[in-house]
Amino acid sequence: MTEKVTVNTLKQMKSSGEKIACLTSYDASYAKLQDEAGVDVLLVGDSLGMVLHGEATTLNVTMNDMIYHTRLVSGASQRALIISDMPVNSYSSPEQGLENALRLVNEGGAEVVKLEGGNDEICKIVSFITEKGIPVCGHLGLIPQSINKFGGYHVQAKTKETANELKQEALALQEAGAACLVLECIPARVAADVSQSLDIPVIGIGAGPDCDAQVLVVYDMLGLTGKTLKHSKNFLVGKDSIAGAIKAYVSEVKNKSFPSVEHSFE
Ligand code: KIV
Repeated sequence: MTEKVTVNTLKQMKSSGEKIACLTSYDASYAKLQDEAGVDVLLVGDSLGMVLHGEATTLNVTMNDMIYHTRLVSGASQRALIISDMPVNSYSSPEQGLENALRLVNEGGAEVVKLEGGNDEICKIVSFITEKGIPVCGHLGLIPQSINKFGGYHVQAKTKETANELKQEALALQEAGAACLVLECIPARVAADVSQSLDIPVIGIGAGPDCDAQVLVVYDMLGLTGKTLKHSKNFLVGKDSIAGAIKAYVSEVKNKSFPSVEHSFE
């Protein structure tokens, strides 16, 4: 095994300009393949509500679901950093957030927990969890737990005003102690500006080529969801195995050929 990836490794990779390859992961078989293919971060996303449970949103995912899948992934990977999503309603207060973050770490084996949003209340929760020694990943832009507020899966931060609001929230999350930040479905220029303005690594999905890291939902990048998504690509095309597709993804992220303009939003 090459050296274990930690939050410090991600910071060093940001400083050195090496792109960070992340994928979602939900079970032991995929986690092992992804780890061996050199994926740096395995994100146990609450997208499992959609791609594993077949639901339209992530809103019915529970703490027990997240602990179960995080345990499967953490048990099968050796090198990658494990980030686990805190499901909706699991961080309604700092105390509840800490209690559930501890469960993801202690029962699931998560190394970082991820939560959505960047208002004052969320920043307080991020500080509270971070101060107790658990690294937190923020998530801004299209945040699926707020899908009913957005009224659909649309690109966010398109106006000057909303882009500035997102940047202020990103800076506030960093100030609150976040170790890294996911930006989902926002214009590439907005993500580039935020990535340059932050010291912490920024992980993009549908956020253009200039983020420090890229993440995709693994079933999307294998063409298993039957959806054509602008921000994703079917890496299985032309490959004879899932391992080959995952290796191609890692290589394209590292050599900066994925994502290109065709996978980005304006
Ligand atoms: O739940 C998830 O898979 C995510 C990624 C898409 C960023 O949050």
